[in-house]
Amino acid sequence: MVADDGAGSAPPIAAGSCATGAAPALKGPVLRTELPGPRGRVLLALSAEYEPHSMTDQVPLVWQRAERCWVEDADENVFLDFTSGVVVANAGHSHPRLVAAMREQADQVVNCYDFPSEWRVRLAQKLVEITPPNLDKAVILTTGAETTEAAIKMARLATGRYEIISFHGGFHGRTFGAMTIGGRRQGAGTRGYGPFLPGVVFAPFPYCYRCPFGSTPDSCRLHGTDYLDWLVETETEGRVAAVITETYQGAAGSVMAPPGWFPKLAQWCRDRDILLIIDEVQASFGRTGKLFCYEHYDVVPNILCLGKGISSSVPLSAVVAESRIMDALSPGSMGSTHGGNAFCSRVALENIEVIIGERLSENAAALSGLFNRRLQQMVERWDCVGEARGLGLAWGLEFVRDKTSCEPVPDATRAIIEAAYRRGLLLIAPIGFYGNVIRISPPLVITEEEATVGLDLLEAAIAEVVG
Ligand SMILES: Cc1ncc(COP(=O)(O)O)c(C=O)c1O
Repeated sequence: MVADDGAGSAPPIAAGSCATGAAPALKGPVLRTELPGPRGRVLLALSAEYEPHSMTDQVPLVWQRAERCWVEDADENVFLDFTSGVVVANAGHSHPRLVAAMREQADQVVNCYDFPSEWRVRLAQKLVEITPPNLDKAVILTTGAETTEAAIKMARLATGRYEIISFHGGFHGRTFGAMTIGGRRQGAGTRGYGPFLPGVVFAPFPYCYRCPFGSTPDSCRLHGTDYLDWLVETETEGRVAAVITETYQGAAGSVMAPPGWFPKLAQWCRDRDILLIIDEVQASFGRTGKLFCYEHYDVVPNILCLGKGISSSVPLSAVVAESRIMDALSPGSMGSTHGGNAFCSRVALENIEVIIGERLSENAAALSGLFNRRLQQMVERWDCVGEARGLGLAWGLEFVRDKTSCEPVPDATRAIIEAAYRRGLLLIAPIGFYGNVIRISPPLVITEEEATVGLDLLEAAIAEVVG
């Protein structure tokens, strides 16, 4: 039973929202109640009673409404969103064009299984048009994990080989195949579930702040790629189908590869006729200041996994790949119940038009300098801010005991996220190998003024916790 804390049961969600134009535009931060407020506490108690605790690890914010880069909780407190959901709402929450597309399509048809609809085929066409020429087919799915699973299936069938090389720290989803290619066995999402699927081996990703080879970005000789031959020689039976990697490692702590690493990796794959799968479920659709993150490195994948920001809202993902690879799968072997339904496809297509038409990648690129400047100032000001790293509007701030020891401080990191929440800035639960990285990923529609508000709040939260 839910304890009656005086707030009574939660009233129904008010009719009318930003989408109807009935409610005023969100702007903030506005803190009207203690946090969480009375209505939020009732809903959180319901969640604790009926949902598993594995569902969430976040600050106690119950979402009621969101618009652009602002989130209103169940008690009408308004927070600045530095999360974009979980790097989803690239076009901003409830973009009016996406809401209109949802309304119109809901009136027509939503699910049509694997029968084509105008919207699914146009979305596939669009994805092929905006990616490199070798990627000439697209399959529309539902989740990011589904894309990485599908990519591995395609790679195996197309090459006739079965081994996969992935990277330490990589995250590719929570289903079993996706977990197997995830490069952190001790993580809470992986530990205890083994043994995992055979045929996957791991190489070091260039996490320069904690380089396993003891290099720094200045002294880095990209040993990681040299190591791949050793890995193939020692840990595989020489039947490697593909290498899979994120372009920047999100869950590992917004880890960015140094210049030169990706081209070297791509060349290594080409020289050995090994497919390169790039997982941009998180890094795409303008997030890093270019439509796709691989564009920063001038590499081209054979298989590209997309999700999250592809729709800025509804559950949709896609794999874009070479037809010689994609068509290795026989008819009827790739569909899923909701994959590519007309509703989600139409919204994703509209979202891509919005991201390109409103030049949101360019906005992310333009604001990158502001984030870089402010976050590097925080690194200089506090001994406990070990490193700030990022591209566009994808940043990570790594917290340590001090710059000499680099010892991770997960408790302080979490305390800073909670302090930011109490000040009206929404951040996601800590990420990183050691839970000591704050992820900063606001919607790409954020203005310089709003970004400055958020950075000021973050700075105040750090000062509150570390003095
Ligand atoms: C790089 C990457 N791949 C795959 C996934 C899995 O996506 P989903 O949660 O939609 O299954 C994620 C999710 O965070 C991700 O960041």
